[in-house]
Amino acid sequence: MAQAVSLPTSTPIANTQVRMADAAPGAHTAEAVLEACGLSVHYGTRQVLHEIELRIPRGTLTALIGPSGCGKSTLLRCFNRLHDVNPGVRVEGEIRINGYPVSAWDPVALRRRVGMVFQRPNPFPGRSVFENIALPLRVSGVRGKRALAQRVEQALQAAALWDEVKDRLHQPAQALSGGQQQRLCIARALALEPQVLLLDEPTSALDPVSTQRIESLLQELKSRCTLILVTHHLGQARRLAEHTVLLDAGRIVEQGPTEQLFEAPSDPRTAAYLSRAE
Ligand SMILES: Nc1ncnc2c1ncn2[C@@H]1O[C@H](COP(=O)(O)OP(=O)(O)OP(=O)(O)O)[C@@H](O)[C@H]1O
Ligand SMILES: [Mg+2]
Repeated sequence: MAQAVSLPTSTPIANTQVRMADAAPGAHTAEAVLEACGLSVHYGTRQVLHEIELRIPRGTLTALIGPSGCGKSTLLRCFNRLHDVNPGVRVEGEIRINGYPVSAWDPVALRRRVGMVFQRPNPFPGRSVFENIALPLRVSGVRGKRALAQRVEQALQAAALWDEVKDRLHQPAQALSGGQQQRLCIARALALEPQVLLLDEPTSALDPVSTQRIESLLQELKSRCTLILVTHHLGQARRLAEHTVLLDAGRIVEQGPTEQLFEAPSDPRTAAYLSRAE
């Protein structure tokens, strides 16, 4: 029996043009939270993604792998319409979340629901640890000192950072280590209670210990949201992802359960990529 999917209610959503809790035709026929249908992207006259068909199951982590320049970050940016800010980019086809096309959303509300973490930690410069999380919360309508403090603590707890920063909440975020800054960026995204978290090589600038901490964190986050992780580390994809998608030259070569894709790839190009990348 199909289940209605509702948004968390604790974050006010300004200007949302569609109500995600409503039933949408075809939305709940399967447990896909995120779908790309016939998705193509051009930068100017150059096409870099070709007719992508993708279904991301709810509450799982999907790894997006493939050679440098194959279009992983471009694909990720389609999910929260980051390309909108670049007039040279043309996106065709459709992305749906819970069955709703993202084109129907207010982009700001969409980006609250579909958070993003980048390769390099990017805390707001000149802002404290606390303000890095409180700022977007205020913008999204959270008011009152106590409520804010509570939400900031919850987010830092969820990102496994609270114990390390609870005594330095009002110090500059940029004084934290690289790994701590990245967990702060994850906390900042989590504070808005996203349904989907997009992670573009979030550990590639980090040392092994920080990487391990982020990996443990991602394992835990699967119970809170759906994760899409771009990574060049095949070991990381294998450790973390239920599903893996291999892109090459803007096309999906193969997608499926991670162990199956790694152990028994059905496309010879997958086997070739895995052996080259190991
Ligand atoms: N803003 C842009 N304008 C023009 N071309 C771009 C732009 N961004 C990316 N590209 C091109 O689109 C293609 C895909 O780039 P993308 O960044 O999505 O690859 P990627 O798979 O994320 O690579 P990497 O693993 O190196 O991060 C590349 O050829 C890249 O040069
Ligand atoms: Mg990239």
